[in-house]
Amino acid sequence: MASEKPYLAMTCTAPVNIAVIKYWGKRDEELILPINSSLSVTLHQDQARCQEQVRAALPSGYLPLPTVRRLARKRRSDEEEDPLPLSLNYKVHVASVNNFPTAAGLASSASGYACLAYALARVYGVESDLSEVARRGSGSACRSLYGGFVEWQMGEQADGKDSVARQVAPESHWPELRVLILVVSAEKKLTGSTVGMQTSVETSPLLRFRAEAVVPARMAEMIRYVKERNFQGFGELTMKDSNQFHATCLDTFPPISYLNDTSRRIIHLVHRFNAHHGQTKVAYTFDAGPNAVIFTLDDTVAEFVAAVRHSFPPESNGDKFLKGLPVKPGPLSDELKAALGMDPTPGSIKYIIATQVGPGPQILDHPHAHLLGPDGLPKPTV
Ligand code: DP6
Repeated sequence: MASEKPYLAMTCTAPVNIAVIKYWGKRDEELILPINSSLSVTLHQDQARCQEQVRAALPSGYLPLPTVRRLARKRRSDEEEDPLPLSLNYKVHVASVNNFPTAAGLASSASGYACLAYALARVYGVESDLSEVARRGSGSACRSLYGGFVEWQMGEQADGKDSVARQVAPESHWPELRVLILVVSAEKKLTGSTVGMQTSVETSPLLRFRAEAVVPARMAEMIRYVKERNFQGFGELTMKDSNQFHATCLDTFPPISYLNDTSRRIIHLVHRFNAHHGQTKVAYTFDAGPNAVIFTLDDTVAEFVAAVRHSFPPESNGDKFLKGLPVKPGPLSDELKAALGMDPTPGSIKYIIATQVGPGPQILDHPHAHLLGPDGLPKPTV
């Protein structure tokens, strides 16, 4: 007998991802199909995640993502009897929160849309690949559907069916890998990524060259470095790809610049630090904003954080400068200090979030996780 339950609800979380081979440019604006493949690292949800509750109830509303409605309808027609007492016309309530500050400049849209796609799919019993659904919200969101190291294959088909995300290696693959988010600025960016990449596609010959002649080989190379846990290769290619992405922004007309003076000083610091050690021990990458994401290995975190503290001393929040995973106060030799060769600029890095590689979306089933009250409206705390 069908259940009398008047609604179905699901609370899920999804992670933030950081691309090491960047997505920039669409070949189809409607379906959100990229001009090149990309590869990202999923960050741990203890430090950065989106949490959403989806609750479907009371006929006469609509399902927000048409693609989920289509997939759910298809699933229904494949089955003889509908096991769920759930109408596709039910109204859907969604509440969403992030556990990281907006100022961190992390791609909240990627985790938000991945979370929405994942939660809706659970509510509506959709079991097919969700890349298409998440991608329609924000391209990079499809990479947040998996943990570890994730590739978004650009695909070739006009309908986008082969433009899908897939896991290259799970989160347990490279346990020594660490991620530091250096939060530089809370200013709102001048050019959003959707508009920015549109202008780049229209005006930058460098972007076309990058998509056709550079990225295919870089994808293969990066996947190999990840599989081999080769930090030298991984770090160097991550920096080169970030630099090329920002070069295409400058090649866009009118030009786009996401980096500021502090970002450029961080780039300088990383290269000086690596030169001092005679190898790539730290790597930076920047998305459409001035905050840096640093990759390194656990044995280098303390020394690099000490170098950052030395070059960018906290202005007032010394005790809150470091968030996330604990970092031991590190040694900073006089030789390294001299090698960095930078006058300290106090306050230009606001704080650091230390994190690591993490898993994909999760279902939260304890009652405290619910964001919507019995009336379907957000609880006062949300
Ligand atoms: C620089 O996925 O935010 O972070 O598809 O227009 O929503 P839309 O863009 P979005 O772009 C992300 C761009 C990037 C690089 C990356 O994450 O690959």
